[in-house]
Amino acid sequence: MDSVGQTNPPNPVFEKYGLSGHLRLGSNTPGPHPSSTTRPVHHPEWDEPSDRGYIVPDNLINEPPSNKPFRIIMMGAGAAGIDFLHYAPSALAGLGVDIVCYEKNADIGGTWYENRYPGCACDVPSVAYTFSWRANPHWSSFYSGAKEIWEYLKQIAVDEGMMEYIQLRTRVVSATWDECKSKWVVKLRRDGPDVAEWEDECDVFLNGSGFLNAWKWPDTPGLHSFQGDLFHTAAYPEGFSLKDKRVAVIGSGSSGVQVVAAIHDAVSHLYTWVRSPVWITTAFAKRFAGKDGQNFDYTPKQKEDFDLDREKYHRYKKSVEHDLNQQFKLALRDTAESDEALASSYKGMCTDLASKPYVRDAIIPKTFNVACRRPTPGNGYLEALASNKTTVFTERIQSITPTGVIDSATGIEQPVDVIICATGFDTSFRPRFPIIGLNGVDLAEKWATSPTSYLAIGVDGFPNYFTYSGPFAPVGHGSILPIISHLTNYFIQVVKRMRREHIRRLSPKASIVRDFVEHAQTYLRRTCWVDPCSSWFKQGSADGPVIIWPGSRMAYFEALRTPTLSDYEIEYWSGNRFGYLGSGFVDAEFSGDSITWYLDRYSDNRAWAEKEPWFDTEGDEFAYVSEQASGQKI
Ligand SMILES: Cc1cc2nc3c(=O)[nH]c(=O)nc-3n(C[C@H](O)[C@H](O)[C@H](O)COP(=O)(O)OP(=O)(O)OC[C@H]3O[C@@H](n4cnc5c(N)ncnc54)[C@H](O)[C@@H]3O)c2cc1C
Ligand SMILES: NC(=O)c1ccc[n+]([C@@H]2O[C@H](COP(=O)([O-])OP(=O)(O)OC[C@H]3O[C@@H](n4cnc5c(N)ncnc54)[C@H](OP(=O)(O)O)[C@@H]3O)[C@@H](O)[C@H]2O)c1
Repeated sequence: MDSVGQTNPPNPVFEKYGLSGHLRLGSNTPGPHPSSTTRPVHHPEWDEPSDRGYIVPDNLINEPPSNKPFRIIMMGAGAAGIDFLHYAPSALAGLGVDIVCYEKNADIGGTWYENRYPGCACDVPSVAYTFSWRANPHWSSFYSGAKEIWEYLKQIAVDEGMMEYIQLRTRVVSATWDECKSKWVVKLRRDGPDVAEWEDECDVFLNGSGFLNAWKWPDTPGLHSFQGDLFHTAAYPEGFSLKDKRVAVIGSGSSGVQVVAAIHDAVSHLYTWVRSPVWITTAFAKRFAGKDGQNFDYTPKQKEDFDLDREKYHRYKKSVEHDLNQQFKLALRDTAESDEALASSYKGMCTDLASKPYVRDAIIPKTFNVACRRPTPGNGYLEALASNKTTVFTERIQSITPTGVIDSATGIEQPVDVIICATGFDTSFRPRFPIIGLNGVDLAEKWATSPTSYLAIGVDGFPNYFTYSGPFAPVGHGSILPIISHLTNYFIQVVKRMRREHIRRLSPKASIVRDFVEHAQTYLRRTCWVDPCSSWFKQGSADGPVIIWPGSRMAYFEALRTPTLSDYEIEYWSGNRFGYLGSGFVDAEFSGDSITWYLDRYSDNRAWAEKEPWFDTEGDEFAYVSEQASGQKI
């Protein structure tokens, strides 16, 4: 017995075997040793660094790095924020992730909180403008109005306790990546009587600030000299009465189309400027719409039926979605589908504008296809243009005076009481406040000429930054909600991998962004999006680069199915990509979760693969097998 053994307490394991507790066996140091019961044992001397200074972390596989709290800031509580807050808290539970959502407005809902102009409604059937995870058999009509959509979103936020995560009236005013801290430092401001400015920090900064959330006035001379009521559609005071007023509507995008159709009956006279040709189409998923693509109200019986039979409602939803998902074929040039859209829209516009041939000839497009802009189903719009109550101008506005609008073609002032600017949004994708990435690069400057991205979600040099519906998102057709849910699930997968694989920061590789943009721009030449229409897919120009997904929504969903981490530049907390292997055990070896799951998954038995058959891990259920076998005469 050596002197070391004499001074150490005896090893109880050896004594259990009837041996001396001071016996020295194998390479173990003498004395009693802890047991790997709740965690693997760990001895401080194992923390000796490698030549590069790498220390093996003391975590189980799947365990986030210790002492590294993780915070996500979600900017915006529109549909994107709500979808994220539906999934993230439960999906990221147990990974030490803290979530906060900052929203500049006084309430949630984004687009549907802000846009309350007359006629504002979704352009896809309501049943498609519904989260897959939150059925709504109660939609009042085929296309529901802004208020009803907002109520749907608000109800979700309340029912799911999301307000616990959302701070209203809190605007993100800047976000700067601090490489030393490995955090985004986010400046926030609250306006109003309790004005305040402060900072928060996060590991992942999610931009859900909306791609149509910065409305813009037209650049018309004299606009703000107007002494009557001047509104933008995105800031229209809901309920403002236009009854018997002379109203000018500037713009003929989707907002202008809806507002003109909705106010025509009430006003005393309508003046509208359609300065560029525009295709007015029939409804999307037309076979499910009302007569001639019109909107309709669901009957109480239909709503009750859908409520009681959710599978039937789901089949209805899938039928409508199936039709909407065919729309991308319209965007390709020289397809039967685009011919069909051209012919039917041309015929419809000629018929509806027969009484005003000068309007017909000026506004029917001659050089671009129907899907060049996001198609505008125009229920009641052409009828309103054709009406005697409406004066349509097809040239630019010369200027606006305190009392009216002067058209450039006539030079005559049209006196009006109200001007509604349906003049769209800043769609440059350039952030509206500083977002500063690695090496002090400002995203707005990086995108000064044209925005780039990786799959519309991130950009090189901006670590741990993801955006909903960024440049090149598939916003040309269908409802945005399924796109948002795909993005949320992609982001959650990334965050899980960051936590489990001890990723400190990740950003798309510059070479990958370059390849993606090259692919998109080369592909997009075959689509009518490059036709000479003015469109926000080209940041409001007629000939700018097209910034949209090169393919169908289905193709986008496929691309988002699983994050390809090799497309990212990655830094790890330990400095070694295998640090996450840590103590060399998986969490299940201590948590009580199955450690025989692979026998089920690879068994060819689907039921077992889905649900592990129960067995008693501690008990003696099968002791009889060997007993019986041993007792048997061979
Ligand atoms: C009039 C109109 C009609 C539309 N109709 C359809 C349709 O029929 N179908 C369709 O699929 N899409 C439609 N869209 C597109 C619509 O924007 C999306 O459907 C969807 O609402 C986008 O959700 P979001 O959460 O990404 O953005 P938003 O709804 O725009 O929400 C963004 C949120 O971020 C907040 N925010 C912005 N900046 C900051 C900041 N700095 N700090 C804190 N918070 C900030 C905003 O206040 C807002 O609440 C329409 C858009 C408009 C304008
Ligand atoms: N659910 C719906 O139906 C719906 C409703 C509204 C909005 N949206 C979404 O929001 C997007 C934006 O729609 P939007 O209609 O708000 O904007 P938009 O499509 O960008 O249309 C803006 C309109 O304003 C005109 N305009 C701009 N400046 C002008 C000026 N100085 N003088 C005269 N006209 C001027 C534009 O003419 P030019 O074309 O010549 O530039 C265009 O007709 C849509 O594409 C859609 O995705 C959907």
